[in-house]
Amino acid sequence: MVFLHSRATRFIRSLAFARNVLFRTRAHALAVLVIMLAIAAPLASAQRIQLSLDATKPGAKIDRNLFGQFAEHLGHGIYDGIWVGPDSSIPNTRGIRNDVVAALKAIKVPNVRWPGGCFADEYHWRKGIGPQRTVTLNPNWGGVIEPNTFGTHEFMDFLDQIGAQAYVSVNVGSGTPQEAAEWLEYLTTAQPTTLAKERGANGHPSPYTINFLGIGNESWDCGGNMTPDYYLSQLKIYSRFVRNFNPAQQDKQQMLKIAVGPGGAEPRWTEWTDTIMKAYQAHTWSWDINGLSMHSYTVGHWPPSYASTGFGETEFAQILKYTLEMEDLVTKYSAIMDKYDPQKKVALVVDEWGAWYAPLPGSNPGFLVQQNSLRDAILAALNLNIFARHADRVRMANIAQMINVLQAMILTEKEKMALTPTYHVYKMYVPFQDATFIPVTFDAGKYSHGDITLPRIDAIAAQDASGKVWLALTNVDPNQPAEIDVSLNGITAKSAVGETLTAPKVDSVNTFEQPNAVAPKPGSAKVDGGKLSVKLDPKSVTVLSLEP
Ligand code: AHR
Repeated sequence: MVFLHSRATRFIRSLAFARNVLFRTRAHALAVLVIMLAIAAPLASAQRIQLSLDATKPGAKIDRNLFGQFAEHLGHGIYDGIWVGPDSSIPNTRGIRNDVVAALKAIKVPNVRWPGGCFADEYHWRKGIGPQRTVTLNPNWGGVIEPNTFGTHEFMDFLDQIGAQAYVSVNVGSGTPQEAAEWLEYLTTAQPTTLAKERGANGHPSPYTINFLGIGNESWDCGGNMTPDYYLSQLKIYSRFVRNFNPAQQDKQQMLKIAVGPGGAEPRWTEWTDTIMKAYQAHTWSWDINGLSMHSYTVGHWPPSYASTGFGETEFAQILKYTLEMEDLVTKYSAIMDKYDPQKKVALVVDEWGAWYAPLPGSNPGFLVQQNSLRDAILAALNLNIFARHADRVRMANIAQMINVLQAMILTEKEKMALTPTYHVYKMYVPFQDATFIPVTFDAGKYSHGDITLPRIDAIAAQDASGKVWLALTNVDPNQPAEIDVSLNGITAKSAVGETLTAPKVDSVNTFEQPNAVAPKPGSAKVDGGKLSVKLDPKSVTVLSLEP
């Protein structure tokens, strides 16, 4: 750094000398200033960024549930995306697409939140079991027919096929505590009750494991526009009576109950969070929560109007600026939670997040169809990094939504399937699931476009159960590579290997015709004298493992 500084100073002094000798007029001086800036800019951007990893000071576990998914009965998220039915010509297992299952297994989805979203507060589970399904409507999302052919058993079969845990959201808005309690009895009891026998008759005699229970969804808005106090009274009732009876979940693997929490930065959500957490602090044996949900989309402004394709650097920079507001939200609500729960027993569960853009032209606006570009891959990495840095409090997150809706992992059209740039980030980040956070200190530098200035690079590191150290690096700057030197404390490594995700343009996407336009490429880096040196491509996400 000192060397660079003195070299730059000498360089600028020599230009100043040249200016004095060669040019006398003001116009000439101005022209030289322009030349100086043009020469100095690459010099500044070539400056190396110093990172420091300290494995001697491990942090919290990065819970694998941070990489959770959300699948709502919305558009083609479930129907066509997961469920094609057993008679479909699309290869399937008991009606569930084989291609989608294989892709999701590869990203080790830890949990799936279902059936909504706003849909959950209108869902009546009995309509989705048994040989005869009731055909209903989906008034929230396009007013289309809801055939209920994908119901409880199909969801649990799907989870079984992909190896994920169940996060079931029960209906508080238009249901009753009795309806929700009976659903949980149907799902989980091992005793021969009428409901358990019905479950057996429907093909699953043994109890299901339900790991997470969401008590309502956005109850301050689409879930019934409740006041904090009204919701709190509902929460206590549902928490008390909606029980998990699975014998295997009484001591270990207990079902975690997640209350509705804030949906943004407005004061009404401060009041909401304060009300729930204050009550939690004083809670008695008869009710409890283990998580508080938070929803935050990267939208810009409502209604969502940013295009998901065909945009330029301005929209790239704007969206990434908006997405970084996640840091402030997580910090703000963690602080309120710390006040009432300093031991951090209640997790902050960011169970809806991601980019929400304008619907693709020609699509049903109620289906929330959008493309997914390199910008979304970078957005995903930045948010996952924020969650990882707050891993002591943020222990679960669910991107919205898994297939064909909003910031999806997968796009399908009939028999075709494309994996999105966001999918690739989730795959590259698999080693961070349940790994231990390692602090990384760095000066991120700056990326500026117009009046927007963002941190140029971002980084997280973690150590997995086998002792291997992983480093994720993001270069937000779409124009300049970033040269990074990483000093390693408490880590012995000779090299680093991994993958980089980038593409020619900020709005590059994968389509059914060109499914690999944005795909990770292998890469490696050298460790010399205890320092790892790596050059990051512009607009890229890189994940490396440090090899002994
Ligand atoms: O993900 C789409 C919708 O966004 C969900 O149904 C709702 O919870 C949120 O407002």
